[in-house]
Amino acid sequence: DDEDKKIGRAPVVTIMGHVDHGKTSLLDVIRKSKITSGEAGGITQHIGAYNVETPNGGRVTFLDTPGHAAFTAMRSRGAQVTDIVILVVAADDGVMPQTIEAINHSKAAGVPVVVAVNKMDKAGADPDRIMRELSELDLLAEEWGGSVIFVKVSAKTGEGIDDLLEMVLLQSEVLELKANPDRKAMGYVVESRLDTGRGAVATVLVKQGTLSDGDPIVCGLYSGRIRAMIDDSGSRIDAAGPSTPVEIIGLSGVPDAGDEFIAVASDKDAKQIAGNRMQKQRAKELAKKSR
Ligand code: GTP
Ligand code: NA
Ligand code: MG
Repeated sequence: DDEDKKIGRAPVVTIMGHVDHGKTSLLDVIRKSKITSGEAGGITQHIGAYNVETPNGGRVTFLDTPGHAAFTAMRSRGAQVTDIVILVVAADDGVMPQTIEAINHSKAAGVPVVVAVNKMDKAGADPDRIMRELSELDLLAEEWGGSVIFVKVSAKTGEGIDDLLEMVLLQSEVLELKANPDRKAMGYVVESRLDTGRGAVATVLVKQGTLSDGDPIVCGLYSGRIRAMIDDSGSRIDAAGPSTPVEIIGLSGVPDAGDEFIAVASDKDAKQIAGNRMQKQRAKELAKKSR
C-alpha cells in the first residue's frame, strides 16, 4: 500500500456539452490559445488534453470533447478518466440532446458537475431558463437551494472565466485528489492514431506514478518502450507525473481510447503481458465466431 506516499495532484476536468455551445472556445480563453480557429468546420474531432496553470498558481488538466452526436463513446471515455465535469450550456440555446447525454455520462461516472452558462454576451442569453431546464434534470443550482455550482461566462468577452476556474479548484479541493508519483506509472489512453512517420501515437493521461522516457509499457493489447514523450505544448519531456497528459511513441500497435496502460519492469514482461492479452482477445473473437 502506498497511501502514505501520496501527494496532491491536479484535477482532471472534462469539458462537455452540446455541439457549438463553446467548449473549445472556453478552453481557448483559459489557455490563451486559438484551437477553435484551426478546427475543420469549427467542429472538434477528438479529445484534446491540456495542463493549464491557473491565475493563483494551481494546475488543472483539461480534456476537451466533441459535442457532435457521433462522438458519444469519446465523451463517455472522457467522463471515466475525469474528476470533475464542466457542463457547458449556451445561454441563448438551452439544454440540448448532447447536454443531456453529457449529464448521463457524468452521473454514470459519479463525478461532480460544474455548469458553465456560456455566451452570456449574446442578446438572447437567458441564464434563468438554463437553471430551470437543468433543475428538471436533477442539477439544482446552489442559489436555488441545490448543490450545483453555476457560473455565467462568455468565451467572447472573458466574463466569468476566473470565477469558473476558482469554482473548479474549490470543487477539486473537496475531492482531496492524491497520487503517488514514486511508483511505476499507470493511466488511460485518451486518444490514439497511426502516424505515417512515427507509427502508433497515443495521448495518455497518467493517473498514478511517473512515466519516464525508456519505460517498458503495456497499453491495451500492445507493448513497447517509450521512445519519445511530447507534452501538450509540443515539447519533448523525460518524465510525466500524475494528472499529466502526454503523447507517447513506441507502441507495437494503436491502442483504443479508454485502454489502460501500465509501466512494467522489463521489455520481456511487457511482451509477455501484451501477448497474453492478445491471446485472450483472439480466443474471445473465435468463441464469438463459432457461436
Ligand atoms: P464542438 O466541439 O464542435 O462541439 O463545439 P464547441 O462546443 O467546442 O464550440 P466552439 O468553441 O467551437 O464554439 C462554437 C461557436 O460559438 C464559435 O463560432 C464560437 O466563436 C462561438 N462562441 C463560443 N463561445 C462564445 C461566447 O461566449 N459568445 C459568443 N458570442 N460566441 C461564442
Ligand atoms: Na464547434
Ligand atoms: Mg469543440
